[in-house]
Amino acid sequence: MKNDTILVTGACGQIGSELVLSLRKIYKNVIASDLKEPSAELKESGEFIRLDALYKNGLADCVKRFNVTQIYHLAAILSATGEKNPEMAWRINMKGLRTILDVSVEAGIKKVFFPSTIAVFGPTTPKINTPQLTVMEPNTIYGISKLAGERWCDWCFQKKGLDVRSLRYPGLISYKTKAGGGTTDYAVDVFFDAVENKKYECFLKEDTILPMMYMPDAIRGTIMLMEAPAEKMSMRSGYNFSGTSFAPKDVAAEIKKTIPDFSMSYKPDSRQVIADSWPQSIDDAVAQKDWGWKPEFDLPLLTKDMIKNIEAMHLV
Ligand code: NAD
Ligand code: SER
Repeated sequence: MKNDTILVTGACGQIGSELVLSLRKIYKNVIASDLKEPSAELKESGEFIRLDALYKNGLADCVKRFNVTQIYHLAAILSATGEKNPEMAWRINMKGLRTILDVSVEAGIKKVFFPSTIAVFGPTTPKINTPQLTVMEPNTIYGISKLAGERWCDWCFQKKGLDVRSLRYPGLISYKTKAGGGTTDYAVDVFFDAVENKKYECFLKEDTILPMMYMPDAIRGTIMLMEAPAEKMSMRSGYNFSGTSFAPKDVAAEIKKTIPDFSMSYKPDSRQVIADSWPQSIDDAVAQKDWGWKPEFDLPLLTKDMIKNIEAMHLV
C-alpha cells in the first residue's frame, strides 16, 4: 500500500463513490469528503468528513490535520443543473477550484486532479475526432467554468509549480451511483428503466451522437494519469480522453439484444441544445502517447455489464 494521504472532494457523487473505493485499494489513507451523507460502503471502508470545498479554512485545516499530500477535486455542478442555476454553478465550480488550488499551493500538496469535460468544447469546435488543441467557445456556464478551470490549472503549474493533472471526461456510465444533473444522464437512466420497466423516454433525439465512457475505464484512466511520471505530462490543462461514441438509438438497439421487449421513445427537452453544442467523438492521441491511454469498453460490452449488474442489484 502506498503512503500518500489523498483527499477526495465531492466523493459521494457518480465518480467519487467508485474512485474512492479504487484509491483505497492502492493508498492507505483516502479521505472521502462531501456535503452529502455518504453511502454505507464509503463510510465503512475509510475516513469520511463533511467538508464544503468552497470554505478555505475548513479545507486548510483538513489538509493539515490529516497531512494530505494529494487532492482529487470532484465537487462541481454539472451541465443541465448549471444552465438552470448559472450563478450557483459558477460559484461552486470556480470558487471551489480556486480554493483547492490556493490551499494546495500554500500547503505544498504534491498532486491535484481536476475533472474537466467535453463541455469545454462548443458549437464552433470540429465535431468529429475533436483534436486536443482546437477552437474552444463553450456556450454553457458549466463548459465556460470548466474551460476557465483548465486555464487556472495550467497557470498554477506554470507559475506556482503545482503538479495538477486533468481529464476531459465524456459522459460517464455507471450502475453504482446514478448521474447527477448532466446532459449525458440518459445513458445511465436508460439501463435502469430497461431492467425495471422495459421502456424509457429519452430527453435527447434518437440520433444525437455523444462521446461516452464506462466507469471502470474512467476510474482506471484517472488513476493511470495520476500515477504517471510528471515528465510524461505535456498537458496541464485537460487531456482529451475517449471511450466510445453512440446515439440513443444505438443504445436502444443494443439493449434489445438482451431485453427484446425493450422500447425507447423520444421527447427532447432543453438538454438537446446543450448536446448539440458538444463533439460527437474525441481524438485522444496525446493521452495515448503521453501516458498510454486505451479504453476497454465499447457499447456492446458496457451494455452487457450494465444490465448484468443492475439485474443483480434487483435480486438482492
Ligand atoms: P455528481 O454531481 O454526481 O457529484 C458531485 C458531488 O459534489 C455531489 O456529491 C455533491 O454533493 C458534491 N458537492 C457539490 N458542491 C459541493 C461543495 N461545495 N463542497 C463539497 N461537495 C460538494 O458529479 P460527478 O458526476 O461525480 O462528477 C464529478 C466531477 O467530474 C465534476 O467536477 C464533473 O464536472 C466532472 N465530470 C463528470 C462527468 C460525468 O459524466 N459524470 C463528465 C465530465 C466531467
Ligand atoms: N456528463 C457531463 C454532463 O452531461 C459532461 O460533463 O454534464
